[in-house]
Amino acid sequence: MPDKRPRRTFAVISHPDAGKSTLTEALALHARVITEAGAVHGKGDRRATVSDWMAMEKARGISITSAALQFVYRDHVVNLVDTPGHSDFSEDTYRVLSAVDSAVMLVDAGKGLEPQTLKLFKVCALRGIPVITVINKWDRPGLSPLALMDEIEQQIKLRPTPLTWPVGEAGDFRGVLDRRTGEFVKYTRTAGGATRAPERRMSASEVEDADAEAWSAAMDEHELLGLDEADHDQERFLGGETTPVMFASALQNFGVAQLLDLLLDLAPAPSATAGVDGSVREVDDDFSAFVFKVQSGMNSSHRDRMAYARVVSGTFERGMVVTHASTGRPFATKYAQSLFGRETSAVEQASPGDIIGFVNAQALRVGDTVFDGDPIDYPPVPSFAPEHFMTATARDIGRYKQFRRGIEQLDQEGVVQVLRSDLRGDQSPVLAAVGPLQFEVVEERMTHEFNSPIRLTRLDYQVARRTDEDGALQLRGARGCEVLQRTDGTYLALFIDKWRANNAARENPDVLLEELPAGG
Ligand code: G4P
Repeated sequence: MPDKRPRRTFAVISHPDAGKSTLTEALALHARVITEAGAVHGKGDRRATVSDWMAMEKARGISITSAALQFVYRDHVVNLVDTPGHSDFSEDTYRVLSAVDSAVMLVDAGKGLEPQTLKLFKVCALRGIPVITVINKWDRPGLSPLALMDEIEQQIKLRPTPLTWPVGEAGDFRGVLDRRTGEFVKYTRTAGGATRAPERRMSASEVEDADAEAWSAAMDEHELLGLDEADHDQERFLGGETTPVMFASALQNFGVAQLLDLLLDLAPAPSATAGVDGSVREVDDDFSAFVFKVQSGMNSSHRDRMAYARVVSGTFERGMVVTHASTGRPFATKYAQSLFGRETSAVEQASPGDIIGFVNAQALRVGDTVFDGDPIDYPPVPSFAPEHFMTATARDIGRYKQFRRGIEQLDQEGVVQVLRSDLRGDQSPVLAAVGPLQFEVVEERMTHEFNSPIRLTRLDYQVARRTDEDGALQLRGARGCEVLQRTDGTYLALFIDKWRANNAARENPDVLLEELPAGG
């Protein structure tokens, strides 16, 4: 029997340190987690069990890889697809966003909008992903709520529609006014926020004297907002014109249940998806899924490789043999797994919106489609403009085989983009990254996982433009420029700076020199 419970599939995104890991934990605490397993993240004592696959993660205290968490809330199955926080891994974040139906943007109440917040809002707009904004850390001193609304409106060009409004200033958090019901949701501090914070709801007439002044100030602002078209409108939210806003303290677990309620009430469910040829797959058509992440080295005891896919349509049953769209070959799914942080367990069945992991999926790459029944091929995840370039060579020539295999693997996982040209040959490919930390991951994994330490040499290029075979010929020999080919066949013209790129475009009006979407 297919599981027909409604789904919500979303990601929590933010500038680093806004509280994403804390909120993820708080969400898991509130909901009934389907898979019984350890903690979600590797940061701090509370989350000690999971992220240990790379020493670097521990050293830096950042979570590099994505994980998915599935839980039940009010008879809905909720899939929370986690994203890395560090800006250098924004490419990874963008891929994750291709697998979700909505996003929760966390904003630090003390800092307001930060660089990564702005970029992520932009990507959500590009991909048409509706965003719910959570102003976090309201238990601490911060900016005024009206100033935060202004920032969102001015800088993101999204109309904020607060669903809750804080009672008491940041740092003197009394609770929130639920603008939909007019109730006061009183905030009760719990020791260390370790247990569910009880949320006491009361009507306006029940507000105690101690909170009366803060309540009346919140009511005044609420009325002002009403005059300013800042009330929620579902159609405008789904159309990417507005963002519902709520105020929370993830650390104190306050606002977490409200957020889950909002996700169920407002966030879109999985819906029909179009393939590259324009044909549309309805959610209850035959099974199809889209690979948004490939990763290896999650388990240090044996080499493995997981391909993570989002179910787009139909019901997945373990063991079914599906078709790999890009090769037309059959793909057996005997070893499908569901995920919880780094813990995995066999998945028997999955529905649209769910995330499944295929073990030992050597054939699958990011952007691939697998399907049952009528053929379908979903559009690839867009890749972002690299801004950092290095040549890689094996330190030990005798280990060239390991070197080649490692580079190929990291390329397929999308850890870096690998560029080649006849001139440079295969011994020292050019690695291209959105952020420099990606190179550290390559060095670390080449040494420890593939037994082939590498030497990286920086190239002076900073700008990449998409060109074609004809462009490659015409630009050959141009100063401050080099054309290389990515593994997917795309030609990239690299330039020392923007000035030279623009100049080349002016001097060669017939040559294709297209800007790529800006990443991290
Ligand atoms: P991230 O995943 O977005 O990078 O953020 P993370 O959850 O790790 O939170 C960053 C810091 O902010 C942590 O403090 C965390 O405890 C704190 N924090 C998160 N939410 C809230 C909140 O609602 N209120 C307050 N006051 N603090 C919050 P840390 O000291 O850097 O780390 P830790 O040792 O406490 O984990």
